[in-house]
Amino acid sequence: MAGAGPGADLRPGSESDSAQDRIGAAPAALIRVALAGHRGRVGSALAPGLAAEPDLVYVGGVGREDDLAAFLARERPAALIDFTRPEAALGHALQAAAQGVIPIVGTSGLSEADVDTLGEACGRAGCGGIVAPNFALGAVVMMWLAERAAPFFEAVEVIETHQTAKVDAPSATALATARLIARQRTFDHPPALRELVSGSRGGEHSGVGLHSLRLPGVIADQEVIFGLPGQTLALTHRTTSREAYLPGVLLALRSLVLDPRFHRGLETLLDLR
Ligand SMILES: NC(=O)c1ccc[n+]([C@@H]2O[C@H](COP(=O)([O-])OP(=O)(O)OC[C@H]3O[C@@H](n4cnc5c(N)ncnc54)[C@H](OP(=O)(O)O)[C@@H]3O)[C@@H](O)[C@H]2O)c1
Repeated sequence: MAGAGPGADLRPGSESDSAQDRIGAAPAALIRVALAGHRGRVGSALAPGLAAEPDLVYVGGVGREDDLAAFLARERPAALIDFTRPEAALGHALQAAAQGVIPIVGTSGLSEADVDTLGEACGRAGCGGIVAPNFALGAVVMMWLAERAAPFFEAVEVIETHQTAKVDAPSATALATARLIARQRTFDHPPALRELVSGSRGGEHSGVGLHSLRLPGVIADQEVIFGLPGQTLALTHRTTSREAYLPGVLLALRSLVLDPRFHRGLETLLDLR
């Protein structure tokens, strides 16, 4: 298990703890938080940010080699943030909920049924929880704008670009965007009459075109392009650093500690629904 970063291990008993932490009596206002996937691309960007927040105690990271249940029982975080892999994230979140620990899930690739299962587990445990396809506030606003623009256009294509190592396609954000847009009206995604290369028209969800680009040098970008005869409207969100995910994670954490409800996406916490 790792601490908050080099020289900044804030776990109880470590040398750099405050006196209050050492005697095990942190002020009630401090929120203890743990992170699964702390060595990953997102996790390693989030950990220093969590450790720097004055109202949080970052109790450390938990990796695939660790016993999560024992870690949670020992460190007693209020919340477990998860940026790992789809095959691990649901199990982590369910273990957290079983101990009354708020699961904050950023890992993409969970099915609707998985999210339902977690929502029920959080309800039984009386803890809040969230699964969000995107914790970048700009991306959430982009999805909200796309849903509002959708009724005015005949056709729409979503183009998402991520780093080459991303395992799922389309991205959870692109799929969530397509679902929101498709709720507004019926779209047609006409196939090419002569498709010279298989798959050139991309994928489709309820008439919304979906295209997944995988390139080095990119973090996470998305463009939603609406069309009408004679005009297009493009909404673009670009992630220039993985710090982009911290404000959304902090919003979820602070909100759920106060109001333990289950959320699908950040929208309700941002008053966008
Ligand atoms: N919701 C959002 O806003 C958002 C934004 C960006 C990314 N994501 C998603 O977040 C996830 C992580 O992305 P990333 O780019 O950070 O991936 P990454 O660099 O591959 O990191 C994944 C991390 O998960 C850990 N891990 C893998 N399997 C595990 C297991 N079984 N148990 C515990 N830990 C495990 C890895 O541990 P090791 O260090 O041991 O390998 C690694 O630290 C992906 O699903 C991605 O799509 C979501």
